[in-house]
Amino acid sequence: MKTEDMRLLKDKVALVTGSSSGIGAGIARLFAQHGAKVAVHGRDMHAAAAGGCAIHVTADATKLNETEAMRRQIEQRLGPVNVLVANAGRNYTMPGPLEDTSEDGWRASIDGNLTSTFLSLKTFLPGMKQRRTGSIVTISSAAARRANPSTPIPYAAAKAGIMIMTQHLATQVGPFNIRVNCISPETILTESNRERIPEAQRATLAKAHPLRRLGTVEDVAQAALYLASDNAAWITGVILDVAGGTVML
Ligand SMILES: NC(=O)c1ccc[n+]([C@@H]2O[C@H](COP(=O)([O-])OP(=O)(O)OC[C@H]3O[C@@H](n4cnc5c(N)ncnc54)[C@H](OP(=O)(O)O)[C@@H]3O)[C@@H](O)[C@H]2O)c1
Repeated sequence: MKTEDMRLLKDKVALVTGSSSGIGAGIARLFAQHGAKVAVHGRDMHAAAAGGCAIHVTADATKLNETEAMRRQIEQRLGPVNVLVANAGRNYTMPGPLEDTSEDGWRASIDGNLTSTFLSLKTFLPGMKQRRTGSIVTISSAAARRANPSTPIPYAAAKAGIMIMTQHLATQVGPFNIRVNCISPETILTESNRERIPEAQRATLAKAHPLRRLGTVEDVAQAALYLASDNAAWITGVILDVAGGTVML
């Protein structure tokens, strides 16, 4: 049974971007169980309402003005954000020859992953620096760890950008007592992946992992909880593969 003392984010205010579904929803749920006041975020209020945590906020993460408005709303209702998980993102193109990638697909991938992460960081850093405290977790992907032909290049490139941005930022803001770490998941069985990946293909994918299964939302949430919490007080600039061992192969 959980005692008060075991709650790793007690009284922290956390924003998990893109937490109306999938991995983000799992992170928001676990953070709330660990005592955080959580802002659940998505673009769509209906989906966000399903999160069931502290408050629900909406913003297009690719728009600075909307992200700033969301920050003000969270600060008014919950207080300053101590923990930020920049999770919003997704793939926008099909794998294949680079020259067949449309300009729109390229831009959407960069915008929806790298720029949205940049804008979340840009929005919440000044307050964290002023208060000299903060913990940030960015979400990249195993797609950025190696040149796998089944991965769309724009998505991989955007996610690789998140990794190096995380490490640059960790060096910049360490002196302000702000930690910045990155999680790099392999295929996670979110609701949408369960619908998208047929059973037989899942079994083949699982065999490619030393741990012989695909990841769960809970696997990623536990890693995010650890990195966000004071248990990781001397850890910054890390890229943590939550990947069942597959990335090293
Ligand atoms: N699932 C995997 O196997 C996997 C593996 C590696 C990395 N990742 C990464 O993990 C993160 C979460 O993925 P997921 O599979 O859980 O995705 P998901 O189920 O599709 O959920 C994505 C979430 O992000 C939100 N979102 C996306 N773009 C947004 C935008 N521009 N503005 C505001 N909200 C936005 C969505 O909200 P709305 O629908 O309301 O916009 C939703 O809440 C992503 O960054 C993804 O690239 C996932």
